[in-house]
Amino acid sequence: MITKKQKQVFDFVKEYRAKHDYAPSLEEIKHRFRLASVSTAHYYLKKLQEAGQLKKQFNQPRAVSTIDKKQTIEIPILGAIAAGQPIEAIEVPDETITITKDEISKQGKHYALRVQGNSMINEGIFDGDIVVIRKQEMADNGQTVVAIIDDNQATLKKLYREKDRFRLQPANPTLFPIYRDEVEIRGVVVKIIRNLESQTDKEQSNEKYTRRIDYSWDYRGENTKTYTHGIHTYPAMFIPQVARRLLETYSKEGDTICDIFCGSGTALVESKVLNRNAYGIDLNPLAIFLAKAKTAPINPQKLAREYIALLSRLEKIKDGEIKKPNFKNLDFWFKEKAIIKLAKLKKAIQEIEDEVIRNFLMVAFSETARYASNTKTGEFKLVRIKGEKLEKHDPDVFGIFRKKAEANITGVGEFYKEAKRGVWTKIIFGDSSKSNGIKENSIDCIITSPPYGDSRTTVAYGQFSRLSAQWIDIFDDPNKASGVDSELLGGRATKTLSHILSSDYLNDSLDKIAKQDESRAKDVLSFYIGLNDCLKRAHEILKPKKYFCLVIGNRLVKQVRIPTDFIIAELAEKIGFTCEDIFVRNIPGKRMPIKNSPTNIVGALEETMNKESIVVLRKS
Ligand SMILES: C[S@@+](CC[C@H](N)C(=O)[O-])C[C@H]1O[C@@H](n2cnc3c(N)ncnc32)[C@H](O)[C@@H]1O
Repeated sequence: MITKKQKQVFDFVKEYRAKHDYAPSLEEIKHRFRLASVSTAHYYLKKLQEAGQLKKQFNQPRAVSTIDKKQTIEIPILGAIAAGQPIEAIEVPDETITITKDEISKQGKHYALRVQGNSMINEGIFDGDIVVIRKQEMADNGQTVVAIIDDNQATLKKLYREKDRFRLQPANPTLFPIYRDEVEIRGVVVKIIRNLESQTDKEQSNEKYTRRIDYSWDYRGENTKTYTHGIHTYPAMFIPQVARRLLETYSKEGDTICDIFCGSGTALVESKVLNRNAYGIDLNPLAIFLAKAKTAPINPQKLAREYIALLSRLEKIKDGEIKKPNFKNLDFWFKEKAIIKLAKLKKAIQEIEDEVIRNFLMVAFSETARYASNTKTGEFKLVRIKGEKLEKHDPDVFGIFRKKAEANITGVGEFYKEAKRGVWTKIIFGDSSKSNGIKENSIDCIITSPPYGDSRTTVAYGQFSRLSAQWIDIFDDPNKASGVDSELLGGRATKTLSHILSSDYLNDSLDKIAKQDESRAKDVLSFYIGLNDCLKRAHEILKPKKYFCLVIGNRLVKQVRIPTDFIIAELAEKIGFTCEDIFVRNIPGKRMPIKNSPTNIVGALEETMNKESIVVLRKS
C-alpha cells in the first residue's frame, strides 16, 4: 500500500529508468519533488522498497529498479479488527496491500486487516497498522491470533490455553485478559505493516529525523548461541543475527571492520565467519578477555583432550593445595565450600600450558564462579540472595563447570569449522572516546552497540563482571575491579549543565530531566559528551563514504524518553556524517534489564526498553 506521493515518486523512477536506462539519483528526486533534503528522497525510496515496489542495493548510486511483478503478491485487506474491545467482524474486501513474496511463507492463504485500538502495543501492533494473517483454525500458545468470540465479535489478542478455558491476552499492561470457554481462531499474525505515515513522513511531522519500524530485524525465537556466541553471558549483547546482517549489508568480504564498544565480541565472531578483518575496542577488562576467547578458533579435538586431562587432575587436588583468592567480601559473595571447589578448578585450569586453551576454559570457569556465587541469577547488578534461599544455596560447582565447558567446546567446534583462516581480529583494551592507535581513514565499516547510558543507573558492565574478573586474576589488584563502571561512558557526572554539544534533542531532554533532578541530568550529559567524542574518533578512523551503524536504545530517565537515536544523528551530522537511516527493531532476546526504577522509588517499575534503534551513518 503506497501513498499518493509515493506513487508519484514511483512513477517518476519508472519513467526516468525507461528513458535513461538507469535510475534517478536522490538529488534528482529531491529536485523533481522540491523535497527538503536528499534524506526525504531516500525515505520515499525506502517506503517503496518496503512496499515491494522498488529494489535498491546499497553503495550503488542510481541502483534503484522497479521490482519484477512476479516477486510481489497482493493480499486483500478484509476490513478492520479490534485490538481493544471486540468489534463486529467485518469482512468486506476494500483494498489490497502489495508485499514481496518472501515476506510470507509459501504455504497457506493470507489476508490483511486494519488494526483499531491499542491493546497490542507491547507486541508492536498499533492503532492504524495493518496485520497480515495466515488463515488457520489452530494456533500455538502465545501466538497473536484473530479470534472470534460471542458469535461474531472479532479481536486481535495473544492466545493461551488454560486448564479448562482460553485466555485472550492483550499486550498492554493496562488492559485485562478476556476468558472464554470457546474461541474460534481465524488465523495468526505473520506480519505487521506499520502505519508510519503520520509518524515518519517528515513533511507531515515536526521531527527532524524519521524512524521506521522494521520487524524483519526481530529474529524472535532464533538461536543466538551458535558458534562461540553462547560461551559466556554479557549484558546487552548483540544478537548475532543483527551483527551479521549489518556486516553483510554495509561491508564486504576482505574489509576491515571495527566494533568500538565490542563487549564480549559478538560482531567480531561474525566478522571472522564472514571473512572480514576486525578490530574490537572495549574498556571493560572482562569484555576483552571474553572477546579474545570467543574469536579464537581452537581445534576442538585438542581442546577436548585438555579438558579430559583437566577433569582427571581436578579429582586429585587436595584441599590443602589450593590458594583462595584475596579480594574484599569474598566470604559475603561465596560460601566456603564453593570457594574451595572454585579454587581447585582454577588451579587445574592454570596448569594448562597452551594459553589460548587455558583462557577458553577459564571462560567456563568465570561463568561457574558467577553461578556458584551468592548472587541472584538473572540480575546484572550484584544482588545477594537472602534468607532461607541463601541457607539452602549449595551449588554443584564442578557440575556447573562441566556443563558449561562441554557446551562451550561444542560451540567452538562449530566456529572452528566456519571461521575464515586468512582474516585477523585485533582486540584493544582502550577508551573509544580517545585515540587507540587505529590509523585514520583505515576502517571500511563500524558496527557497534554503545552502552545505553551511564553504567551506574543502566547496565552496570563493571559490576556484572566484578566477581569473575576477581577470580580469574584479570586485575593485578583484584580490588580494583570495582572501579570499572566509573571509567565507562558517563561514569563521572559533569560538574555543571553547560556544554557545547550541538543537539536540540539532547538539550530538550536535559531541560526536562534537570527540572526534576539536576544531578541525574549531569549523569546524562556526561554520557553524551563521552559518546560525542567516540563519534569523532569513529569519524577519524573510518574511510570516506563508508558506513557506521549503531544499535542503540532510547532510555527513560525520570519519565523522560531520551531519543538517543536522534541525538546521535544530530551530533554525527555536525562531525561530518550523514544520517542515512534510522529503523527500530523489537528486542525479543537481548539480555537487558527490561524493568528498572527510573523514578528511583523502590517498586515503581517502568519499562526501560523493549525496542532499539539502528542508526545508519555514512561518512561524507
Ligand atoms: C552494549 S555493550 C556491547 C555489547 C557487545 N555488542 C556484545 O555483543 O557483547 C557496550 C560496551 O561498551 C563498553 N564501553 C563503555 N564505555 C566505553 C568506552 N569509553 N570505551 C570503550 N568501551 C566502552 C562497555 O564496557 C560494554 O562492554
